[in-house]
Amino acid sequence: MEKLKQIYEGKAKKLYETESTDLLIQEFKDDATAFDAAKRGTITNKGIINNKLSEKIFTLLQKKGIPTHFIKRMNDRDMLVKRVKIVPIEVTMRNIVAGGMAKLLGLNEGIVLKQPVLEWHYKEDALHDPLINDDHVRALGIATEKELETIKKYSYRANSLMKKFFDSKNLILVDFKLEFGRYKGKIILADEISPDTCRLWDKTTKEKLDKDRFRRDMGNVEGAYEEVLRRVMN
Ligand code: TMP
Repeated sequence: MEKLKQIYEGKAKKLYETESTDLLIQEFKDDATAFDAAKRGTITNKGIINNKLSEKIFTLLQKKGIPTHFIKRMNDRDMLVKRVKIVPIEVTMRNIVAGGMAKLLGLNEGIVLKQPVLEWHYKEDALHDPLINDDHVRALGIATEKELETIKKYSYRANSLMKKFFDSKNLILVDFKLEFGRYKGKIILADEISPDTCRLWDKTTKEKLDKDRFRRDMGNVEGAYEEVLRRVMN
């Protein structure tokens, strides 16, 4: 499979058509943005690391019955994926209070939640991906009742599996974001799963090993991504 026409360039990835109409090549860039691209930068080798980490997590989830767009990693920065129509919802799953939830409810980061919290955010950067609920999704026809149920089921299952997996690597899965797409009438997991889209803290020291280091100018961003890769591949 080769890259033909580029059809999309987002903040962290590019998408290319291939000779197969059902398949795309997803290329991971080193570009990083935060706060809806108000802050921009690069994280050296982030694309290579996120490609490998996404491969690892998608493979794990797929084995456990969550369908994903991932087919195979082709090289350092490219993966072959199924061509989906993205459902314009960002699904956030939280196990520990941090980031947006701390801000929304005036809570301290680090509070362990009594149960996972699933949030829908309407995917629209210009509006800062506003928080919406099930009724918004159904009333606006963003997804059907059945799709909503499927997305919920896969998201909770992904949370359990990823929490357990990262725990075995001495990492706490604080929260993460998922995106789903429609492929041949079915809902499948798409986008990426990486330290750009997950908050990961060292289990012992609680050190942040994710994109918050970039968002908050904490330094050693590259080192954190490399450390996550090292642990995950171990
Ligand atoms: P939040 O606390 O800022 O809402 O972020 C929750 C999780 O979602 C966190 O792990 C980072 C991830 N995330 C994205 O992947 N993309 C985004 O645009 C934002 C705001 C968060």
